[in-house]
Amino acid sequence: MSTKKRVLSGIQSSGMLTLGNYIGAMKNFVALQHECDCYFMVADLHAITVHQDPAALREQSEAVAALYVAAGLDPKQAAIFMQSHVPAHAELGWMMTTLTYMGELERMTQFKDKSEGKDAVGAGLFVYPPLMAADILLYNAHLVPVGDDQKQHLELTRDLAGRFNQRYGETFVVPEPFIPKVGARIMSLEDGTKKMSKSSPSAGSYISLLDAPEIIRKKISRAKTDLGREVIYDVQNKPEISNLLSIYAQCTGQTVEQVQAQYDGQGYGAFKKDLAEVVVQTIEPLQRKYHEIRTSGEIRDILRSGAERANAAAEATLSAAKEAMGFLPRGY
Ligand code: TYM
Repeated sequence: MSTKKRVLSGIQSSGMLTLGNYIGAMKNFVALQHECDCYFMVADLHAITVHQDPAALREQSEAVAALYVAAGLDPKQAAIFMQSHVPAHAELGWMMTTLTYMGELERMTQFKDKSEGKDAVGAGLFVYPPLMAADILLYNAHLVPVGDDQKQHLELTRDLAGRFNQRYGETFVVPEPFIPKVGARIMSLEDGTKKMSKSSPSAGSYISLLDAPEIIRKKISRAKTDLGREVIYDVQNKPEISNLLSIYAQCTGQTVEQVQAQYDGQGYGAFKKDLAEVVVQTIEPLQRKYHEIRTSGEIRDILRSGAERANAAAEATLSAAKEAMGFLPRGY
């Protein structure tokens, strides 16, 4: 057996990905792929926890897989697959749901945010975290690269792994979150206190990974800035400019202190102009690759071989978990 650490993560195919998804998660997927045994899925079962038009879901699912490759994931290194192509996810998801307490789910801030003000909330949205736990535990992942908003789901996953192991015997690895120090929560360009999100109704609040360069420049030039004119990283007092500094630092590989020093005394205007170019330079090559992949049709082969690898790993863990829980084996 490989001594490499195992990694599992995923992104929902519920809309076009944003710069937040890229900085908070995808960049780390790419960074980990050579040193770890990696599984990256497109979370389509999670996407349907809110209604998706079928044609849009198909398009978005293929788009997320293609963006993984365009961002630098090598399908020979990492298994890239659709969550729904590995039936073990739904099956272990149910087993994990039975282990989860209502109170644990009621405390989930993402559920509270997504259900707030709505009177018809699907039950899938509520039981989404144990499915996410199953995604991770099936691969006995040691590390889970995610942005800050997934931390609470990871804590529940750790609790469920521990609970299962305690009740039924050592079965699952208890995973650790892998969260970037800077850029773990990229904020909206229109409100530095809210997360940048693909589900926001205002397109000016986020940068989509497929936004044209002119659009990116326009969105950044209109991005809200704090009072004053100094480019200073101070999340408490200057949330908007601190967010822009994080984006700059993450796109160039510099520290926020280096970027801050570079713009000392220059004001917001000059900084935002350069930031737009930095973001365009980060995203443009990714977009070029993305369009090549979509036109070549290679994504089908990538997803097929990814699902084969994922199914082999997931089936073995599922069988062990079912046996531990007391299910009669198939063919009994
Ligand atoms: P999702 O699809 O909302 O987001 C995918 C990844 O992007 C990160 N992210 C951000 N990071 C920084 N700033 C932002 N503004 C930002 N917005 C999103 C998220 O933290 C996440 O890492 N439940 C997950 C998908 C999932 C999953 C899993 C993840 C399903 N099963 C198993 C890890 C392991 C979700 O909804 O992420």
